[in-house]
This record gives sequence, structure tokens and C-alpha cells, in this order.
Amino acid sequence: MHVLSKAGTICRLFAVGAFVRDSLIAGNWKMNGTRSSAAALARGLAAAVSGSVRCDVVICPPLVFLQEVAECLAGSDVALGAQNVDHRTEGAVTGEVTAGMVKEFGCSYVLVGHSERRSLFHESDEVVAEKALAVLASEMTPIVCVGETLAQRQAGVTSRVIGDQVRAVMAAMTPVAFAGCIIAYEPIWAIGTGETATPEMAQAVHSDIRCMIAEQDAETAQGIRILYGGSVKADNASGLLAQSDIDGALVGGASLKQDEFVAICEAAGV
Ligand code: PGA
Repeated sequence: MHVLSKAGTICRLFAVGAFVRDSLIAGNWKMNGTRSSAAALARGLAAAVSGSVRCDVVICPPLVFLQEVAECLAGSDVALGAQNVDHRTEGAVTGEVTAGMVKEFGCSYVLVGHSERRSLFHESDEVVAEKALAVLASEMTPIVCVGETLAQRQAGVTSRVIGDQVRAVMAAMTPVAFAGCIIAYEPIWAIGTGETATPEMAQAVHSDIRCMIAEQDAETAQGIRILYGGSVKADNASGLLAQSDIDGALVGGASLKQDEFVAICEAAGV
């Protein structure tokens, strides 16, 4: 088993344990669609997923479509999420929204620290941690995204980069609060490129992340959900989701196609 962390012994115990974590499939629509296409997709997913899929499902539309999408999802098994919030609670921050604001629209999840936010908007590990705290304070679940660049992978520093990103969030909050987070491992070189980590590559990093968490809190490490993201599609989802430390997927491009997204949800529910 691939273990880079000094908590290797604990991790080997997990591998033979029978701890069950519910799968979560999250759709990240990014900056796509129109008001009417968002409503049509949400309506279609609500009908297709409800009652038939045995995993948790959330979709994260652009903020301006939250109201519309919330109405389409009402009474369905599909939860609503936001792609980003500011870490402050109010004030002179032109163009941003608070966690409390998206909560009012019915969001129960918020993506935090997506690599596009980290690179395009210069979000540091510390800001990402503050955003996770703000989301928790509004009684929603942060999906904290971490991942390495291609250059970092090739330089052999993946474990250190991911470790810094995860530990920054852990350091900012109590163990109980951290247990309320979800981690999404998204190798940056796999996002929107059609390049996916093999199930074995992804499993190795997921296992590593669980080990890092176990160094501080073994119980949280067992219970926390770690999603994989980066060019997840219907035809590669089963292999990824079959890995013992992969508890779901964060899906970008494929979440914009109803049949493709439903097929990924079905792969998680088996
Ligand atoms: P992708 O995006 O599935 O299009 O690679 C994933 C993400 O950025 O969350």
C-alpha cells in the first residue's frame, strides 16, 4: 500500500477495516449556462435522481441561478450548493456574497478553495481555511478542494503540497469542526483536460490524505469523505469510485450533461 505519511501503521489498519462512508456526487457547473438551461437541467436531474440513486447528490450552479435551481429541486433528493463565498460576514466587499446569503437560498454545501479560485483569484491556504470556517458557521458543509499542479507532481512534491493545503484547514478549526468538512482531491492537471488520474494514482493520494488527518485525529480520518475530481465521466467513474478511500466525485464538465451526470451518480450508488 502506498503510504507517504508517518501514520502508515494506522492507515494499514483502515485498509482492512469496514468503515462505511456514504458516497457524494457533486456537480460543479462553473460559469456555464443560462437561466433557462440551468432550470431545465435542475428539473431533469431532480426527476432522474430522486428515489433511484443510492448516494448523496448536490449541484452547484452559478450564484445568480440559485433561486431558480432551488425551486426546481424542491422536494427532490438533489441538494443545492454554491461554488464560492467570501469569508467575511458583511461589509464593503464589492461583488462578493456571504455564506449566510447562499444559505438563505437553500444551499447546504459550498465549494471552497477550488483550484480555479486559488489560481485566478489568488486564494491562499489561509483564506481557504477562513472560508471553510464561514461555511461551517452558517451550518453548511464546506467541500474543501486541494490538488497539485503537473509540475509539482513531476517534482515529487504532491504529498507535501496536499499536506500543506489540508493542514491549513485543520489548523484553523477544532477537530469537531474539521469533521464537518468534506475534502475534494482534484489534481490540477486533470481538471477539464480529459486526463484523469488512474484509480490507483487517486487512491494513493486519498489514502495519504486520510493518513495526514489520522496523525491528528483517527476518528475523523475514518469518517471524513474524500471526493475525487478531474475529468470524471460516466466511463471512468466506476473504477475511481471502487477505490476504498474515494468516497465520491466532484464533477465539472460532465455535470452539465444530464445523462452523463446521472450515470456517474448511479456508479456511486452501487
Ligand atoms: P472537470 O472539472 O470534471 O471538468 O475536470 C472538475 C472540477 O473542476 O471540479
